[in-house]
Formats: sequence, C-alpha cells, structure tokens
Amino acid sequence: MRMFLKLNSLRKPSVHVKAPGVLALRWRLQRCCFCSSPQNESSNISVLRHLTSKIKATGPISVAEYMKEVLANPVSGYYVRNDMLGADGDFITSPEISQIFGELLGIWCVSEWMAAGKPKHFQLVEFGPGRGSLVTDILRVFSQLGALLQSTNLSVHLVEVSPRLSQVQAQNLTGEDSQSARDENEPAYRRGTTATGLPVSWYRRIEDVPVGFSLYLAHEFFDALPIHKFQRTERGWREVMVDIDPDMADRLRFVLIPAPTLASSTLIQADEQRTHVEVCPEGGVIIQKLTNRIAEYGGAALIADYGHDGTKTDTFRGFRGHKLHDPLEAPGTADLTADVDFSYLRRMAGTGVACLGPITQRHFLHNMGISIRLQVLLQNCPNAFTQRHLLQGFDMLTSPKKMGERFKFLALLNHQRLSSPVADTKSGKKPPAPLPVAGFSELGPLQGRN
Ligand SMILES: C[S@@+](CC[C@H](N)C(=O)[O-])C[C@H]1O[C@@H](n2cnc3c(N)ncnc32)[C@H](O)[C@@H]1O
Repeated sequence: MRMFLKLNSLRKPSVHVKAPGVLALRWRLQRCCFCSSPQNESSNISVLRHLTSKIKATGPISVAEYMKEVLANPVSGYYVRNDMLGADGDFITSPEISQIFGELLGIWCVSEWMAAGKPKHFQLVEFGPGRGSLVTDILRVFSQLGALLQSTNLSVHLVEVSPRLSQVQAQNLTGEDSQSARDENEPAYRRGTTATGLPVSWYRRIEDVPVGFSLYLAHEFFDALPIHKFQRTERGWREVMVDIDPDMADRLRFVLIPAPTLASSTLIQADEQRTHVEVCPEGGVIIQKLTNRIAEYGGAALIADYGHDGTKTDTFRGFRGHKLHDPLEAPGTADLTADVDFSYLRRMAGTGVACLGPITQRHFLHNMGISIRLQVLLQNCPNAFTQRHLLQGFDMLTSPKKMGERFKFLALLNHQRLSSPVADTKSGKKPPAPLPVAGFSELGPLQGRN
C-alpha cells in the first residue's frame, strides 16, 4: 500500500549532517555526542567511583551489569542525564535525519492496522523514543489520514527509561499538556495529550503498557540494551567481565573469568561456531514479551537497528564526540552499544509469531516507496537549501555505504496476518490472499535507485 502526503513541516536541517566519507566509516556517530563539560567530568568520576567500589566489594562485574550502570543508572546513567541532548549536541538517528523515515513507518503502521481488519482500539507503542521525532512524524501521517482513522480509539505509549528524555518527548508531542504521575506506583509515570487530542503515556517497562491490539516500534533501542560477552577457550566458554586494572586503580580492564558463570553456562547455543559471542538476554526477554502480546492480542512489531544475523563477534564499543571511544574509558561520558544479533531475537521469538527479515534499511525504505516520496517533497519544495538537505538525508538513509546496509528491519507478526482465510465451502469462493506486508515485499529491482 502506498500513500503520499503533502509537504507540510519539513524538519529543519538544524542537525549537522556529516560528510559522506566520514559517515561511511562512522555510521553510529551520527547518533550521540556531547561536549565534555565540567559537569560531565565530575559525573564521570562518580560513575567510575561507583563502579570501582562495586567491583571491590563483589569482584569483577559482567559487561551487561557495566552497561546497565553506565547507561541507565537512575542518577548518573548516560541516557538519564539531560546534557546528552544539549543545544550543541549532534545526536542524530534516521528519524532525526529526515522526516521521510518516520512518515514511511507511519504508512507501515496504517498498512498493518488495515491488514488486521482496522481494529477499533489501536495502541502505538514505541521503545526508546529519543526526542520523540519518529512518533511525531508518524502521528502527522495519521492526522493526514484522519478520515481513515477517525472512528479509531488511538493512543500512544512510550517505553522510556530516561526521565529527562521523557520530558523532551513530552514537550515535542504534547507541549505543556503532560503531567508526571502523583503516585510512583502508577504504571505510567507521565501522561499527556497531543494537540490533536491523542492520549500519550510513558512507562519504564513493557509490562506496564496496557495489553490490546498494538503496533510496537523499536528504533535504535535494542543496541542500547546490556550484553554479556563470552570467549571460547580450550576449557569451554568463559565470560569476559570488567575489573579494576591492578596497575592503575582508576582504570578498568576486561578480564576472562577462569570458571564458568551462570551466563556462560546458559546463554550460548550448543552449536555455536564463533570464538567470541555477545548475547543480550534483556533484549531476548523483551522479544518474548512482545511475542506473547502479539500472539494473544494481535498487532505487530517493527524492530530497526544496526546489526547482523549471528555472524559478528566483538562489536561492543563506545562513542564520544563523534569518535570511537574505549568503552571502559571515562564511563558515563560516552554512549555504549553493541550490534544487534537478529538471529538471536528471531530465536527468542520462537514460533509464537511470524518473523519477517531482517532486511536492510535500504531495501525496506525502497519497498516503502522512499524514492517516490522524495520526488513529491522535492517538487513541493521551492528552496535549493532544503532540496539539498532532502537529498542528503535520502542518501544517508539508503546508501549501502552509509546507513542503507548496516541498518536492518525485522518484523514480528501475528500468525493470522500471513495465513489465508479458509475457503467458503458453501459458495466455493476462493478467499483473497493476505495483503503483502509493506516494506518486506520486493517492488522491483534496486538498480539505479541509490
Ligand atoms: C539511541 S537512543 C534512540 C532514540 C530514538 N529511537 C531514535 O532513533 O532517534 C536510545 C533510546 O532508548 C532509551 N533507552 C535505553 N535503554 C532503555 C531501556 N532499558 N528501557 C527503555 N528505554 C531505554 C534511551 O533513553 C533513548 O531514548
């Protein structure tokens, strides 16, 4: 299904778009950067102190525990602190690069909602919404299709660990029209209403999101979840952990734990061929919860991230100030990430849902009609600067050397979505085949499209 919208509010190119050559090498850097301020330095020292006292008390900690402390510690976590999105920061992801990205995902959502028989209650759920740009672009698509969704009870649900980012999202989505929960035991810690009257709620965990027909989106979310690292040795799999460097008390280092750990005994597949493996059990648990919800209540999930299909080994890294950063250096001042293992996510989904993909971002966006949407925007856009910005964004999102190949899309669907309805025995009428899943069906050869 294709729908194209009128150019209305093109995102201002306020975010610095790096030169293509630079981006090819450092696709992740478009994401987060913040300047090193005195506040950051003192926060860095306190994160380091916290980690070293923990290690002194209990011994080396897993990489998963390290990531969790550094990224999501309620006081000092990288995602929790507000200066990550400072005025000078150049945090940029696909939804931040171009409005087209969110618009096409909006069309994907409408398409899946229609294929499910236009359920009356429709929850749009996003994990890790960053600044809220993706959901803003999606809601603009929804409001332009107002007639179609008019009698639908639509609500927006955001799963966000960062109180500061939730404020940014609330400002962008609801203006002043949101309030924090009075009681901290309430499932939603913030609630608001968009300008068009849609209710928006914020949660810390998927368990808190109401059940019901939902379309779940996760863009650059799974890569931020904690991973365990393992190394194959002559004596079997061993876990890589984080310890204090014995030569420098204020430095951390990786160590290989000599005895098996619970994680090394339970998280590795028996037929694993690689010598170094990263596993994200938290991601696996979220996928299982999504699977159960989609199987029971209907809906779909669309997961987009950079990653591989069970082939890569050592991808844990940090990024700071647009540069690769030693992930153990100055913890709390840099983003930590690991490539998403899509084969693991599919395995965790099991047979409860149908999985499509992963396919590359380039294929997905072309299948969704990004080239045609670009042409419409270019035709409606009079000024050369904005046209150049649109073309740059298109190139960044789709070029194989930039984000086109590294980023992948995986869909989890209720099984009914792909099954043919049973033939009517009385009339003998052949039922229509299920609608193709937008973005995952080939619309034609890719040659010459980039
Ligand atoms: C790299 S940002 C991506 C933001 C956005 N999706 C985008 O693409 O622009 C990761 C997002 O996930 C959130 N996040 C990280 N870990 C989380 C967790 N365990 N639970 C909920 N949100 C989390 C962060 O606060 C942030 O909003």
